[in-house]
Amino acid sequence: MKRSVTKAIFPVAGLGTRFLPATKSVPKEIMTLVDRPLIQYAIDEARAAGIKEFIFVTSRGKSALEDYFDDAPVLEQELRRKKKKDLLDILKSTTMDSGQIAYIRQHRARGLGHAVACARRLIHNEPFAVILPDDVIAANKPCLEQMVEAYAETEGSMVAAMEVPADRTSSYGILDVEEGEGQTLRVRGMVEKPEPGTAPSNLAVIGRYILSPRVMKHLSGIGEGAGGEIQLTDAIAREVGGDGVHGFRFEGQRYDCGSKAGFLQATVAFGLARDDLRDELSEFLSALSLSTS
Ligand code: G1P
Repeated sequence: MKRSVTKAIFPVAGLGTRFLPATKSVPKEIMTLVDRPLIQYAIDEARAAGIKEFIFVTSRGKSALEDYFDDAPVLEQELRRKKKKDLLDILKSTTMDSGQIAYIRQHRARGLGHAVACARRLIHNEPFAVILPDDVIAANKPCLEQMVEAYAETEGSMVAAMEVPADRTSSYGILDVEEGEGQTLRVRGMVEKPEPGTAPSNLAVIGRYILSPRVMKHLSGIGEGAGGEIQLTDAIAREVGGDGVHGFRFEGQRYDCGSKAGFLQATVAFGLARDDLRDELSEFLSALSLSTS
């Protein structure tokens, strides 16, 4: 029987330079969409998909991230004293059992593949998920949960996929897939950040993966790829001729929260999705569009 996916790796070592000066002292993953840090969305999605062990690959300057998952006894005591049950519930939803979390330091920024490989000793002979918290996906059924269900019907590894405009393919891992109409497509090849005009398709890899443990082995054997970094895409590509790779066209709206424009769009969309904010925010947005048109 196929083993279930219970471990997820969260590569959170990046410097977040695109958000300077904010990221000078605040890890990018702690920046908030409305009132929840980016990392909380990733954790919630992982939990919904049945993940039980959360592995963070961090770096220097990310201690705020570790603090975020600790209990906050003083705050809790205060909220209890003031009988703020709703706030206490919110707080509880963010705490994690100590044994559920592991932090591993990536000592040098050598690419996404290298970051994932840093967690190799915590992954045994079992499939594992990778979640890039920059890619926030709003969906009725969380993206990783959709993938876990589809994965049960396939072999090998699976990556989330989405069409991107032709002039954006050089920013992504791009899939070469067999013809097909369904949500799950067999991958024939994949290339990280292809030069403009050379992409095999415009189907991009988005930051959700379910990977065979063999990918960990490939990571230790591959050299530097695009941008002089160890690329996760290159290690997964080695599975194309092995246990196989599938691209999964998820349902939902993806926001690139690694970019300022994407972060702002997500903030507006998540704000409008909230009952407590919708009216005030949409009134403001319509007044704004009237005054700028
Ligand atoms: C990473 C991956 C890339 C993928 C992208 C999705 O790139 O290397 O294959 O398409 O995430 O967001 P990055 O955005 O870290 O450069």
